Amino acid sequence: MDNKRSTFTGKLGFVLAAAGSAVGLGNIWRFPYLAAQYGGGIFLLVYILLAVTFGFALMTAEIAIGRKTGLSAIGAFKVLNKKYTFIGYIASIVPMIILPYYCVIGGWVTKYLAAFISGSAQNAATDGYFGTFISSAGEPVIWFLIYAGLTAIAILLGVNKGVERVSKIMMPILVVLSLFIAIYSMFIPGAIKGVLYYITPDFSKFSVKTVLAAMGQLFYSMSLAMGIMITYGSYMKKDVNLESSVKQIELFDTGIAFLAGLMIIPAVFAFSGGDESALSAGPSLMFITLPKVFESMWGGTFIGILFFVLVLFAALTSSISLMETVVSIFCDKLNLNRKITCVFVLIGTILIGLLSCFGYSIWAEVKIIGMQMLDFFDFISNSVIMPIVAFLTAIFVGYVIKPKTLVEEVELSAAFKQKTLFTIVIKYIAPVCIVLILVSSVLSAFGIIKL
Ligand code: PHE
Repeated sequence: MDNKRSTFTGKLGFVLAAAGSAVGLGNIWRFPYLAAQYGGGIFLLVYILLAVTFGFALMTAEIAIGRKTGLSAIGAFKVLNKKYTFIGYIASIVPMIILPYYCVIGGWVTKYLAAFISGSAQNAATDGYFGTFISSAGEPVIWFLIYAGLTAIAILLGVNKGVERVSKIMMPILVVLSLFIAIYSMFIPGAIKGVLYYITPDFSKFSVKTVLAAMGQLFYSMSLAMGIMITYGSYMKKDVNLESSVKQIELFDTGIAFLAGLMIIPAVFAFSGGDESALSAGPSLMFITLPKVFESMWGGTFIGILFFVLVLFAALTSSISLMETVVSIFCDKLNLNRKITCVFVLIGTILIGLLSCFGYSIWAEVKIIGMQMLDFFDFISNSVIMPIVAFLTAIFVGYVIKPKTLVEEVELSAAFKQKTLFTIVIKYIAPVCIVLILVSSVLSAFGIIKL
């Protein structure tokens, strides 16, 4: 069955498809608010260092595992060593946790697009607009349902490939538009302080928390530690250069995240009149800041509509990739019909996603280990389960199947230039660092230690 897998036609096809999954709300919504919150330049520096070491090694490992076995996560670990099938199972939990709240944020983007189209762009730029929106019990739910429905429909009708094709055209436009908005933002009066905050590392702001946040963000943004890149690898042809594909996906993903930060962070400084507490707005940062940027711009409503359309597409390709993964896990394991499974996954997504929606409104008082519901789901997936999966993958590759096995896979297409870096990160650096960071973050979340 598996040798019938269709493959991506060439390197460009592979890189664009993987980048389609990787580039999404993680880059545009999540990266800027974390960078703002965790000290700006120091976060950026830690993130880039992690991307070229951890990110590179892990993405190479996952894609190579997929290409070697021609299978998705659960099957792939099973074929390589039956005792370690459980890693595939743990990895599979991650998309199930992320998908529901991803659709909630996707709903916020849809709402902003609708507001801009219906001529409320100015309104959206006023203080309190976002707060009023998410704290109402009904509206966020409606947009969440619309967004989750769109994702499911794309899969049910099989138009997901079409969406991906459109997104390949949209993505380059997104890059150009982001560049334009970023340059504009940098020149808003008062923004220069924000540019400096974003690009100059302040080492006094360095902490274990910064590293943990950057690491979770790296996994999330590059769709790592959840089996997704293994699946993509399983569709990759043996003669496509694996190492340079990984580098291109990373560059693309990091480039968009960097630009998103540049669009948002300087503008936060410009519009808050130097009030640094605005930097810790968290998940709402992009929604509060960007409408103000568009409002101050000539033709801002049009630019805003274009921007939110592009972000919506980037988000949809990612949520489709998440939902596909969840649907195929259930289809394969329970031998169910795809369409029925898709409906069940949609229902499950809605039920769990509602918790995140209500966490901002009627259940605002409910806190789990001090966190709002959406933040809690985000924490469990990005700061707990993904580091565990990354750790287990590193141990598995480093000591069970041995890096050599994957190095050989990479070398099927071309010489592996950074094989020493790959081996050292996988065997030593990644396991040690992940354990240290993971343990300290969990202890601090439960208030046992203070970071
Ligand atoms: N990487 C995507 C983003 O940055 C999120 C995602 C994770 C998508 C896993 C698919 C799978 O938005």
